[in-house]
This record gives sequence, C-alpha cells and structure tokens, in this order.
Amino acid sequence: MGENMGLNELERLSSGINELDALIDGGYPKKRSILITGGPGVGKTIIALQFVDCACKSGLKCLYLATEETPEELRIQAAQLGLSIAEYEEKGQLHFESALAERMDDITWQRGKNAGTSLFKKPLNAIKSSDADVMVLDNIGSYTLDTTIGAFREQMDYLVNTIREKNMTGLIISDDTLNERYNNVAQYSVHGAIHMFKRESPFTGNVERLMNVIKMRGTNTPLSYVRYSINQNGINIQTQKESK
Ligand SMILES: Nc1ncnc2c1ncn2[C@@H]1O[C@H](COP(=O)(O)OP(=O)(O)OP(=O)(O)O)[C@@H](O)[C@H]1O
Ligand SMILES: [Mg+2]
Repeated sequence: MGENMGLNELERLSSGINELDALIDGGYPKKRSILITGGPGVGKTIIALQFVDCACKSGLKCLYLATEETPEELRIQAAQLGLSIAEYEEKGQLHFESALAERMDDITWQRGKNAGTSLFKKPLNAIKSSDADVMVLDNIGSYTLDTTIGAFREQMDYLVNTIREKNMTGLIISDDTLNERYNNVAQYSVHGAIHMFKRESPFTGNVERLMNVIKMRGTNTPLSYVRYSINQNGINIQTQKESK
C-alpha cells in the first residue's frame, strides 16, 4: 500500500492487538462498525476490552454498553488482563453502562403495541447522547428474541447508521444466541465482521481457537483462519495460518 495511500484510504484504529492490526491493514476502520461473532468463552469481551484500553491510551473516549456483564465484572476482567481501565474511568475517558435491565425493557416493549419500531432503543439512546469516539455493544444476541429476520435487518442497519452518524468506531458483539441466519444478516449491515470459534484440530485432535475475518471493506484480509490463544495478557494471534 504505502505510496498508494490517498484520500480514499480508511483511517484505522488499533485493535490493541498488534498481530490482529497487521492482518487487517493496521486496525479497525475508523468511524465504521465491526461485528464480532462467536460462542461462549471465545474471547469476545476480551477483544473488546483490549480495543477500548488501546483507544483510551491514545486519548479517545469510549462507551462500553454491556448486556450480560455488570460494569464491576468488566472491571475485574480488565484488571486480570492487566489493563488500566479504572484509570480511564476516573479520567472520564471510559464509561461502562449496563444495558441489562434496559435490554429486558426493550424486549417487553418490542412485544407491545410498538413492536418492531426500535429493537435497540436503549443502546441507541445511549449512543445518541454520547460524545464517545469508540462504542462497544456487548452483546446484541438476546435482542433478537421474537424478532423477524426482516425487522432485525432494518434495526441493524439503523443501529449501524446511527453509530456512523455519530462518527463513532463501533464494535458490535453477537453471541450465538442469534441463530446463524441472524448473524449472517447482521454481517451485511456492518463494515467488517470477524468470527471467533473453537474447533478440534484435524491434525492433533486438540481443541484450538480460530478467528475468521469474514469481511473488512476496503481492506486486504487474510484468506485463511487465524489461530489464537488467550492468556493473562489477552488474545495472542499465532502467525502460522490454517487453511480454510
Ligand atoms: N488468564 C487466562 N488464561 C487463559 N485463558 C483465559 C484467561 N482469561 C480468560 N481466558 C479465557 O477467556 C474466556 C473468556 O473470554 P471472554 O469473556 O472474552 O469470552 P466471551 O466470548 O465474551 O464469552 P461470553 O459469550 O460468555 O460473554 C474464558 O472462558 C477463558 O477460556
Ligand atoms: Mg462476553
């Protein structure tokens, strides 16, 4: 790339993981939304915490909306990874917001007479009233209960557009509560999508962690699965690749 770098080139924000940045042309495309999908325990929250920590380090403001974990649980998880999250919260650079109760409200509301009009009502309100540069929504899985696929697509597009209009870089996380069709639909709405999963190695029989960069618009992405591990420092990408 280098000398071809022009006005059309997307600016990047470091993911906080150097080896991942190297795989996606320097980081997540700025002012766009990236979807991270994967089952329980694959490291979705860790990848998000590493991202906000790195963004705060570079002086940006972050909003972390959590539907499953409480802010306190996230603080503990971050501390275990050696991230200086507490310091950024004190400085007002990082704001955790629990979307747990709100999520339940949304679901109730969605089943009421206004059904379908705003699936992500509470996260949307938080996003609209925030001046953050970076937004994490962890996670949208249970928002889809009882939603038709068509309505979900519309709501995803609306969420992604709102994040973009706010000039935020968004990381939207989705667990596998969403059936595959919903995650596939969600992947169309966003600028980039990464899937994280576990698989039994065909060679060793050991369970291994793999990452698949499904898409990243305007980015040269790896064509193979990327192996990673998780330790006390967070996510470690293994440079040796596995063919799909
Ligand atoms: N110090 C560590 N060493 C090794 N593995 C670790 C360590 N800390 C966390 N992990 C792994 O990371 C997993 C948790 O990652 P994380 O919370 O990001 O998952 P998640 O994808 O967000 O899961 P969920 O869908 O339940 O929210 C643990 O289940 C564990 O396997
Ligand atoms: Mg999580």
